[in-house]
Amino acid sequence: MARTLEEVISEIKNRLDIVEVVSEQVILKKNGGRYWGLCPFHKEKTPSFSVSPQMGIYKCFGCGEGGDALSFIMKTKNMEFMDVIKDLAQKFNIEMPKTSQKSEGTKDLKQQMMQACEKAAIFYHDLLINHKSEEIKTATDYLTDRSISREIIDRFTLGVAPKSYTTLYDLLKKDFSDEVLEKAGLVLPAKEGKGYIDRFRGRIIIPIQNENGEYVAFGARALYKDQSPKYLNSADSLIYNKSRLLYGLYTAKDSIKKEDSVILMEGYFDVISAQAHGVENVVGVCGTALTSDHIKLLSRYTKSRKLYLSFDTDSAGQKATNRGADIIREAFQGLGNIKQFDESYISASEDKYSCEIRVVCPPEGKDPDEYIRTVGADSFKKIVENAPLLIDFQVNNFLKHKKEYKTPQEKMQYIKSFMPVLLEINNEIIRSEYIKMVADALNINEKSLESEIRKMASINSMQQIGNKEYKQIVTKNETILQKAQKNLLSVFLVSDSHFSFTQINEMIDNSYFSDETLINVKSTIDKLICTVNNVKELIEQLYTAYIENPEIQRLLTDLTNIAETFMNLSPEDFQSVIEENIRRIKKCQWEEEKEKMRDLYKNADEDDTEALKIQMQLRDRINNKMKLEKIND
Ligand code: UTP
Ligand code: MN
Repeated sequence: MARTLEEVISEIKNRLDIVEVVSEQVILKKNGGRYWGLCPFHKEKTPSFSVSPQMGIYKCFGCGEGGDALSFIMKTKNMEFMDVIKDLAQKFNIEMPKTSQKSEGTKDLKQQMMQACEKAAIFYHDLLINHKSEEIKTATDYLTDRSISREIIDRFTLGVAPKSYTTLYDLLKKDFSDEVLEKAGLVLPAKEGKGYIDRFRGRIIIPIQNENGEYVAFGARALYKDQSPKYLNSADSLIYNKSRLLYGLYTAKDSIKKEDSVILMEGYFDVISAQAHGVENVVGVCGTALTSDHIKLLSRYTKSRKLYLSFDTDSAGQKATNRGADIIREAFQGLGNIKQFDESYISASEDKYSCEIRVVCPPEGKDPDEYIRTVGADSFKKIVENAPLLIDFQVNNFLKHKKEYKTPQEKMQYIKSFMPVLLEINNEIIRSEYIKMVADALNINEKSLESEIRKMASINSMQQIGNKEYKQIVTKNETILQKAQKNLLSVFLVSDSHFSFTQINEMIDNSYFSDETLINVKSTIDKLICTVNNVKELIEQLYTAYIENPEIQRLLTDLTNIAETFMNLSPEDFQSVIEENIRRIKKCQWEEEKEKMRDLYKNADEDDTEALKIQMQLRDRINNKMKLEKIND
């Protein structure tokens, strides 16, 4: 069914959920009827960015940015309005009106790249399961050796790339241009001038799907001893961004939601083994370090943000664990404490912590894949169930090395390196428990350790104060008149005012507005209130109307802020808000008029009879007005 552009836009708006949209870029935490997070538009360490699902808008109390779901996408992705609409129409499967389908270039290219990747994945997979040759046998044997069954091969569309140079290229060039194949990372320009060769050769192929199940990239494991690197990965492309994509998420999402937790692993085969053996809520990073975008992605699926790190147990893996933990802590900064001890018996509130980081460390130095294959998935699940909180894992690791430090100086250096971890514990009682534990284990005086930590804490807080940028809300010095006019305009945006738009409009005369921008917005409101059904729609339509005008969008945010302060008023109180502001405006306007008249009066030439006449008139008007004012006051 063909629709008009307006219909498409309104349908898209209906389908958009502001919390969902913002969550793609910002980790949000619910507090009351709102969600809070770190503002994506300015640097901050404590959240002043809030989302109101009720109003369908976001705003930052720190930098003043604000808007609805569409403007959020435009601003954060730096996209034009129509491009956002086209993207979303495609996502929601809504047909765009014919006339506005131009400039489809890049989208078409992306689409073709994904189709090419899918074709390639199917080709490699088909080769592995349906064909016979020496090298295919090598691949099959390799997988069998790793206990990868036919079922697993099918489930993860595993395949094999032949050693030959152009098998894939020869097949795909029939359907795709060289540009598409090269951009998708499937082929490389041949060294000697002309033509292309396949990028993946003589390797096990692990196709990578994005969150929506589309094929966007590949990991390819070496099959032969002399091959390097061990894993050859697709480079980032128009359709693939390693630092925002997690391997296995498409198949793990339901389970992550259900279990309300997610296990992070390092290797493709770790994820494959885990998911294949029934540990489903597992994802992996694709040959890169964990990033805050990965964490944002995961936060959308687990409500209580329970994150398990299941990296290798070797020293590289340990480093990855610590780095991963830092990334997670940073991502959740300001949203509340990170869970630091088990207290399920005290508190039932799920909302209490911003996140919970646990570390899964199977014994015997095995990586998750090996452990699950040799010891079993059930045993792995038990390890996950009993996984220590990050803090316990860190304390444990720290104390493991205690025997290596003997002299007081050595001990002190050693402890200093660990003090930041103890400092992070917010709760005093828990912190002192850990201090006691560490002091006992190292055989040092508990009180001295405590006082050293205090010293460090006070140095840290001094530094923090020194670094603190005092960011204030950018408000110009508003005059009383401007403020009153804004207040008056904002009453249209109060969602529970007891009055219809028409009733409000009758109380508010256009002559009360003298600020040009406010007059502009008021006239748009006049037009919109004939068509919208409620305040939420009005706000949405306003943001859309001024989509190309960030300054007015800021003003709208300001107005919605003010409107919120007028919520929950009785009809009488609401009316008196309007009256009070009208009174203030009139008063200011009269003051201005008086000033003008006085100027005229002063400049009038006393000898000129005409001027004298004006003078008398002005005097009369001032007097009359003064009398009226007195009565009103
Ligand atoms: P590992 O070297 O620990 O590999 O790298 P692994 O998963 O245990 O592999 P197998 O079991 O020997 O096959 C862990 C992950 O690091 C990335 C891959 O994502 C790999 O799964 N990696 C490793 C690369 O991207 N390139 C490499 O050359 C090596
Ligand atoms: Mn391995």
